[in-house]
Amino acid sequence: MASGLTMDKIVSLARRRGFVFPSSEIYGGLGSSYDYGHYGVLLKENVKARWLEAMVQERDDIVALDSAIILHPRIWEASGHVGGFTDPLVDCRTCKKRFRADHLADEQCGRKPSKRPGETSECDLTEARQFNLMFETRVGPVEETGQRVFLRPETAQGIFVNFKNVAQLARRKPPFGIAQVGKSFRNEITPGNFIFRTLEFEQMEMEFFVPPDAADQWYRYWIDERVAWYVRYGLRQESLRVRPHDPDELSHYSSATSDIEYLYPIGWSELEGIANRGTFDLTAHAEASGTTLEWVDGGSGERYVPAVIEPAAGVNRAMLAFLCDAYDEEVVGDRERTVLRLHPEIAPVKVAVLPLIPRDAGIAERARALHQELRRVMVAEHDDGGQIGRRYRRQDEIGTPWALTVDEQTLVDETVTIRDRDTLAQERISISRAREHLLDRLAAPWAPPARG
Ligand code: GAP
Repeated sequence: MASGLTMDKIVSLARRRGFVFPSSEIYGGLGSSYDYGHYGVLLKENVKARWLEAMVQERDDIVALDSAIILHPRIWEASGHVGGFTDPLVDCRTCKKRFRADHLADEQCGRKPSKRPGETSECDLTEARQFNLMFETRVGPVEETGQRVFLRPETAQGIFVNFKNVAQLARRKPPFGIAQVGKSFRNEITPGNFIFRTLEFEQMEMEFFVPPDAADQWYRYWIDERVAWYVRYGLRQESLRVRPHDPDELSHYSSATSDIEYLYPIGWSELEGIANRGTFDLTAHAEASGTTLEWVDGGSGERYVPAVIEPAAGVNRAMLAFLCDAYDEEVVGDRERTVLRLHPEIAPVKVAVLPLIPRDAGIAERARALHQELRRVMVAEHDDGGQIGRRYRRQDEIGTPWALTVDEQTLVDETVTIRDRDTLAQERISISRAREHLLDRLAAPWAPPARG
């Protein structure tokens, strides 16, 4: 993260350039809920695509799954979520606000924001009560008699209850994994710090089934793999750390958990959790459903309940980390520019095609043709509005790594200028090689430039 970076700067850029908007804005907004605009969607899709590539495409031992959001309600009883997925909350009878009892030191009094809840003589806090974070709804046409169900608070349970299907059909034996990307929902009370904590969010979770005596070794393996993935896509090593949970922090299912933390503008905070869930989940669902969930070796007849190692990442938190790490401001000549130095494979737009003199028919035609050619293989933008400097700055702010400028010389020698977002270096390349040139640069390893 650049020094001096604040969440306000990220929120402002995200809004200005249409990455993220507050949700339901024309109705006054809904707290901790956000909508994603064009560039936000492209960025988020890139994060998910890179995760799926690393988990599924580049490996032989992980398969993909897309389970339902609304699952049988008994799943959430067996998993421990109905009984234990709670936060301790207190209400203030004076200001009517609700707070996390364990986060009072970080919260603001509803009447006097400079004070903490309970700090003024007017505050009148209730005792702490356990509040379940799952959203409830009903299945069926009649509300009163419909079955009570939950919106999933994690994608993981959809994987565990499909263990038998996948293990048989995918013909995999442990160690093997099942990966899933999808929305999860939590009735979070603590205000969210932009998209860091929201009511609905996307998770990228992978449950890796291993022989129990190999669980610790795979737990350590996945911590290293996941840190390496963030570094591969541009997060700086010094902005990442691994924090093992203290025993009293562990979830009910976990025998060991480590958080990969990122240094957000709000301080070191969880980006992803890697847990050794042991045999808790398969055992709990086998008991509750009456279905045996174990691995049976066809040859030796050996049978056992696999242990589970789970890297569980948040798409939106990853997107926020990529935005924070990429954000930079610098003075070029006598002008300040804001630039997102995103990894090219994460950047929403890969290349901008800019006709220098849009009213010149020859230049305009070449630029259109080049844009058409490039957009077949990558997200490319054509921009002919305004001064060239302003167009460059706009692309810098959305993190476009390269801009191709079509100018008068193009009409003479069939070359265009390629401008590099980070170094600002410009060189001329042949227009006929532009597509190949960009694909090569896109595939090349990339590291963030050193901070000035
Ligand atoms: N299956 C395990 C599990 O869900 P978690 O630590 O509760 O573990 C995993 O969630 C990841 O999901 C977190 O590291 C975070 O990135 C993301 N996440 C959790 N709650 C979130 C929320 N309310 N808003 C945005 N992301 C969230």
